[in-house]
Amino acid sequence: MKLKFVCFLAALACICVGDARAADSVHTFAIGTNDFLLDGKKFQIRCGEIHAARVPMEYWRHRLQMAKAMGLNTVCAYLFWNLHEPNPGEYVWTGQADDAEFCRLAQEEGLWVILRPGPYACAEWEMGGTPWWLLKNDGIQLRSRDPHYLNAVKSYLKEVGRVLGPLQITHGGPIIMAQVENEYGFYGKDASYMDEIRKALVGAGFDVPLFECNPPDQMKNGLLPDLFQAGNFGSDVETNFAKVRQIQTNGPLMCSEFYPGWFDTWGQPHHLGKPENYLPNLKLMLDRGASFSIYMAHGGTTFGLWSGCDRPFKPDTSSYDYDAPISEAGWATPKFFQTRELFAKYLLPGEKLPDRPAPDPVVSFAPVELKEVAPIFDNLPAAIKDEAPRNMEAYDQGYGCILYRTRIPAGAAATLEAVAIHDFGYVFLDGKRVGILDRRSAKAQVVLPERARAAQLDILVEPTGRINFGPEMADRKGLIAPVKLGGEVLKGWEIFNLPLDDKMLAGLKYQIGNRKSEIGNQPAFWRGTFKLDKAGDTFLDLHAWGKGDVWVNGHCLGRYWNIGPTQTAYAPGCWLRAGENEIFILDTIGSENHTVAGLEKPVLDELHPENDFAQTHRPVVKLNLITPVHTGTFASGADTQDIKFAAPAAGKYFCLESLNARDGKPYAAVAELDLLDASGNAISHNGWTIAYVDSEEHVGEDGAAENAIDGQTANFWHTEWKNASPNHPHRLMLNLGQSQTISGFRYVPRQGTESGRIKDFRIYVGNDLIQP
Ligand code: GLA
Repeated sequence: MKLKFVCFLAALACICVGDARAADSVHTFAIGTNDFLLDGKKFQIRCGEIHAARVPMEYWRHRLQMAKAMGLNTVCAYLFWNLHEPNPGEYVWTGQADDAEFCRLAQEEGLWVILRPGPYACAEWEMGGTPWWLLKNDGIQLRSRDPHYLNAVKSYLKEVGRVLGPLQITHGGPIIMAQVENEYGFYGKDASYMDEIRKALVGAGFDVPLFECNPPDQMKNGLLPDLFQAGNFGSDVETNFAKVRQIQTNGPLMCSEFYPGWFDTWGQPHHLGKPENYLPNLKLMLDRGASFSIYMAHGGTTFGLWSGCDRPFKPDTSSYDYDAPISEAGWATPKFFQTRELFAKYLLPGEKLPDRPAPDPVVSFAPVELKEVAPIFDNLPAAIKDEAPRNMEAYDQGYGCILYRTRIPAGAAATLEAVAIHDFGYVFLDGKRVGILDRRSAKAQVVLPERARAAQLDILVEPTGRINFGPEMADRKGLIAPVKLGGEVLKGWEIFNLPLDDKMLAGLKYQIGNRKSEIGNQPAFWRGTFKLDKAGDTFLDLHAWGKGDVWVNGHCLGRYWNIGPTQTAYAPGCWLRAGENEIFILDTIGSENHTVAGLEKPVLDELHPENDFAQTHRPVVKLNLITPVHTGTFASGADTQDIKFAAPAAGKYFCLESLNARDGKPYAAVAELDLLDASGNAISHNGWTIAYVDSEEHVGEDGAAENAIDGQTANFWHTEWKNASPNHPHRLMLNLGQSQTISGFRYVPRQGTESGRIKDFRIYVGNDLIQP
């Protein structure tokens, strides 16, 4: 009680104009002609994004206090629909899903809240927050006025209104604004759809100002002119605000996502935001009285199996540190202090920055070996019989793994091929692994060895997060049939659901690891314990393991994969205890050593491409570039450029060849490429892979070729510069999966700096750009 009173006194000392705590009177918030208005006075929103689901609820107050101490006056939070409605009509608002409590805590800590209820969020979260069960309807059109989708959205938003409506500033709460959808301009152009979402929010009881967010270049798509527009961008503040002004001639200026760092994907270098970009742009916005939201202020961790996947197929790591000012474990980074120092110069009269709270205790423990093992093949549920394999959702399963089994005849070596594998398929013959189907490769095929007699074929499919961005987000998981062997369709399958939920995990039969040697690369759960003198945060060292998921004391900490860049899993102290703690790990690809240690620091930037079971998923090809379909020169600057061919060209391959760069240097870079069909519309990237690329930077930064077709303009393909600088011509060739008629393409130059921006170029389109 004494402590609570002291906190109340301390809080009282900080209460001043603009502080959400002053709940003694009803406040007002409005979007004025030039400024946001809080209680009728000009209010500059200094906001930062924190996702309640990505922070142990026991730590919410700490992170909110960190945000306040950094100088924020508002936090921005997504709601993840699939977390709150795991099954149709079944709503969850407790524990990690108790966003109402998160908002209440924010208010207690003197922070206003900008709510981003969705229905779609993106956010490197499983399917962008959209529930998997919508995919049980084969024809459903997500993020559209498809009644199957819209009706589900309306029920969900009605529920959001019931739970969070009372926390609006209009009802004495901290929520000052609510967002309609998320970056819809990247996805579609149907303003009526956006209007439906807005109406659903209003119908659900939201009476605070509403807004939508988009990168400025996409704002025109699906625009509702009477809905406040906020821009998402991480650099070039003046240029981007000028673009916002072209769409919205007055009103306050708001950057609703300003990126201090970026998210990581498996197999690519850890992203570090450049302070020389972050601070000056932040200062620019402060000086011009603009409002902003730092995405992410505190990234946290995508616990469980919630991490999503960037398009075309770049699974996101579970660590969502994001190189944010407040680190994954809630520590103050140099960027935190730099931001606090900057904000201290822009406080309202009487506004003071509270001290930051003490960090949570950190502990470590020596390596322990997990000796108990539960092989997946010994722990199978009852089988579902089916003539042909179907996607996981068709068997009413949302998450986890799924096993497909059939028998194949004796015979010569032959190619096993599926239409697609979502995402990794470990192929076993009579229990022995003979290959891996890998979504990163253009073809879902492996060669099965000769069989002297009939054999049992098992394909264990491990999804690694549903795509969370772009038209590909209707990302059904599992085997996409038909599955053929030597061209013959395989029929008569048994399917085993392996949802990795609490019920399945509780039912696993473990044996003491005397079978370690024979387990080898079989998919298995390993279990053990570690002792702590006292509970505290730690980082599980998972270097020794292959690929899978890890649990501690029943909490799923997320995914791991030894190719990196993440090599540890954050284990919050609030989920650990003094004494014995239980840990179990699913390893789908197997590993020699089964030890885990607890480290005092995370390992977020350690790549091991040598561990990748696809030594290289870059096909080794010979080019056959004869006649370009187009030759041109890109304009200078960062603006998106549409290039039209003299005549449409058809082909399965599209190749961009750079001849030189704007800055005369040997590098080429592309932020985004879209191909335009005969009527000038962007062609879906579904099934696109990189057929060939002559050079990619993988050391100094993430310059992977996939960055040019992932829909995000904040990242980019960049040729090597760290350990080598091969010169032009540089070539980036896309495999579209099937022949397409292409009338032109859309080129988004690298944003932020000139390096790599291409000057003269050639384009090749055809089916024979690669010699057989
Ligand atoms: C977009 C989305 C966010 C997030 C960022 C990248 O701008 O709106 O949800 O995905 O990109 O982190």
